[in-house]
Amino acid sequence: MFDHRHLLGIEHLSPMDIAAVLDRADTFATTPDSRAVRRDSLSGLTQINMFFENSTRTQASFEIAGKRLGADVMNMAMQASSIKKGETLIDTALTLNAMHPDLLVVRHPNSGAVALLAQKVNCAVINAGDGRHEHPTQALLDALTIRRRKGRLQRLTVAICGDIAHSRVARSNIMLLGKMENRVRLVGPKTLMPPGIEKFGVEVTDDMAAGLKDADVVMMLRLQRERMDGGFIPSEREYYHRFGLDAAKLAHAKPDAIVMHPGPMNRGVEIDGEIADDINRSVIQEQVEMGVAVRMAVLELLGEGRG
Ligand code: NCD
Repeated sequence: MFDHRHLLGIEHLSPMDIAAVLDRADTFATTPDSRAVRRDSLSGLTQINMFFENSTRTQASFEIAGKRLGADVMNMAMQASSIKKGETLIDTALTLNAMHPDLLVVRHPNSGAVALLAQKVNCAVINAGDGRHEHPTQALLDALTIRRRKGRLQRLTVAICGDIAHSRVARSNIMLLGKMENRVRLVGPKTLMPPGIEKFGVEVTDDMAAGLKDADVVMMLRLQRERMDGGFIPSEREYYHRFGLDAAKLAHAKPDAIVMHPGPMNRGVEIDGEIADDINRSVIQEQVEMGVAVRMAVLELLGEGRG
């Protein structure tokens, strides 16, 4: 059962909702002959992708997911659209609404903008990332990757490292992993740690050795320079020295710990290129693969009632 009209954040999901998405996504993730799964469950439905921020992988992933389910998918390049001519977000939403889409996938630089838009339209709305607030499909695809690799999504120690303060990926993951009863450690410089984050039930440290100790999962985050409005780190070299994931730091985690990164990654800033490419440790490409499966699951679950 997945009884929601929109997917605006992990905040609104129960552990059962999360399991329902992951179970559905699992059916899209594997075929005996490793070919992509196709269905026509969204045939006759219109999906519009509205990205008010640059995106490569997330937009492509939603587009492929919709097309594999038979939806009519349209991409609106919002950078170049009427927004530039001064139209408000709400007017854009109402204009699109008049075209009767069934599914609207929205990314926006402002936290809360996607939820606002959802109040104004009749279709299902999926948050593809809003400011530093939430990025629910990223947390779900991370969860699917972890569950498939570790065989479970409970009682794991997950270290989330780097620029926590500016990261919607971190926020959504903290909520999801917490709901599923995992131990979450946040590791990063104090300047990149949101104040009061401990109230989410996480442990906080600025020491990589302590943070990674016996971790099952090490999740690295990009330095979100576009969201920084000052000097949060002394220099990239210094940052890499203290917080960049290399073999020596990874040695503190469990021997079978997996390494994750939502992308796009900066090699030599938050992660060593060799670790990122190490097929025995890094699941970064698998995350991209699971991204399509999770987005197919979300689109299908929300589209089911609309056919
Ligand atoms: C993330 C995002 O946009 O929040 N990337 C993504 O969805 N592929 C993380 C990031 O930009 O660093």
